[in-house]
Amino acid sequence: MIAPFEFHMSTRMVFGPGTSRQAGQEAKKLGASKVMLVADPGVEKAGLVGPVLESLRAASLEVSIFNDVESNPRDVAVDRLADLVRQGGFDLLVCVGGGSAIDTAKGAATVVTHGGSIRDYDGGGVTKPIHPVIAIPTTAGTGAEASGNISITHTGKHYKMSAGKSSLCLPRLALLDPEMLYCLPAGIAAAAGMDALSHAVEGYLSPKASAFTDMMAIRAIEVIAASLEKFSANRADPGPAGDMLFGNTLAGIVIAATGGGIGHAMARALGGRYDVHHGLACGLLLAPNMRHNLPVREEKLARVARAMGLPAEGLSQVQAAEKGIEAVDALYRSIGLPTHFRHLGAKEDDIQAMAKVALGNSGGNPRKVTLDDIITIFREIL
Ligand SMILES: [Fe+2]
Repeated sequence: MIAPFEFHMSTRMVFGPGTSRQAGQEAKKLGASKVMLVADPGVEKAGLVGPVLESLRAASLEVSIFNDVESNPRDVAVDRLADLVRQGGFDLLVCVGGGSAIDTAKGAATVVTHGGSIRDYDGGGVTKPIHPVIAIPTTAGTGAEASGNISITHTGKHYKMSAGKSSLCLPRLALLDPEMLYCLPAGIAAAAGMDALSHAVEGYLSPKASAFTDMMAIRAIEVIAASLEKFSANRADPGPAGDMLFGNTLAGIVIAATGGGIGHAMARALGGRYDVHHGLACGLLLAPNMRHNLPVREEKLARVARAMGLPAEGLSQVQAAEKGIEAVDALYRSIGLPTHFRHLGAKEDDIQAMAKVALGNSGGNPRKVTLDDIITIFREIL
């Protein structure tokens, strides 16, 4: 029987090659006249911002560029952008980049309409639609274009807060253009892809999952599992690039509706202490997180295994589930990402403090988790 659920998604999505060049006409449709273009500096260097800027100018819009986007955006940078938008009278933010650029724009848009600092919206507190944002993702991972959550580093508390947490924080429009993924560095493509997979899996296992989010989560797992290796090897192949962008957006919708489990709680604690890529943290934590939840999610994990293309004949439910966990681990190892956090400078001495932060954010995990469980998993991946 389908359990009762509620679902809301207000972002208009336009998917297809070349759609990023519709930014100007779409901005006009939203009634904009003065646009703040928020661009990741690496993406700008790769030449992906130019065509968007041209499209905005061709629509006779006044445009300024903000490219002080950090890979792990901090509260202070978001607040600074909000000041610029307010003082300059910008009526629209267009962001081009990965989750960092999109979250920087959504965070600033929240502060523009609600005042104060983005720190004031850690965990919620948004009461009205944020300043208009058009999101143009250039990675397939965070799903930030389809999410009302805003991941920003809280510089006072040393962790990645999940700010906003409301459909009021969704971009008005997402232009999903697979061509924007073609120049992505291999390491970022791989790490971001694991972030997307972790959104789909953690969302699927979440106590807040519904029949509606399950449908999207399973499709996202199928598409990502089939395409991530090919995409990591060749980002300019239109098939895998389009599949990854699609899977990423589906997974982003899922995690925004359900929240994450211990994987994301631990990744946020790691991201707040070290400057590691969020997707890398989520990817490395995904298999241990699935293993922890196996006793309470056997059936769903067996379904994950099938979605990953594994044959289930002759296997018990728990054996199929274990195969699925192994397949996630094997996928992570096949795309060339670091296999331990000590390679990235993580230290045993920091585990206790990070585990405490993670435990405080692990309420959405399907299986009860203790401080010792988290310490054990951190040690496993150190
Ligand atoms: Fe994530």
